[in-house]
Amino acid sequence: MKQKEIYRCSICGKVIEILNPAAQETICCGEPMKLMEEQTADWKGEKHVPKITVDGNKVTVDVGISMGTPHPMTDQHYIMWIELICKGNCYKRKFLNPGDEPKATFVVADPEDLSSREYCNLHFLWRGS
Ligand SMILES: [Fe+2]
Repeated sequence: MKQKEIYRCSICGKVIEILNPAAQETICCGEPMKLMEEQTADWKGEKHVPKITVDGNKVTVDVGISMGTPHPMTDQHYIMWIELICKGNCYKRKFLNPGDEPKATFVVADPEDLSSREYCNLHFLWRGS
């Protein structure tokens, strides 16, 4: 296991993040939790790959808005959180709720070497730049 990996229980739906990678296996509901791979290519018409826009030290990450197809934000289907990964392996995260816009704005000291991740409750983990 590695730091920042996301695991999901396919029985109860619990989602966890690894902060201490010492554990060998993570069990939930009697079964090993499943590693959520970082998906990078969109499929169907729906947009999931997060997109970064930099304006000075202000960095915005959106899911589908800048592509003209905002990701749904309904109770049944929504982006649960958006992360910005900054230089030096620094992670910033904003949690979202249904009804919010699928985007997050962060202020960073050094807007270089940025990447992003987002987690959809139905379509899981995505990585973008
Ligand atoms: Fe989705």
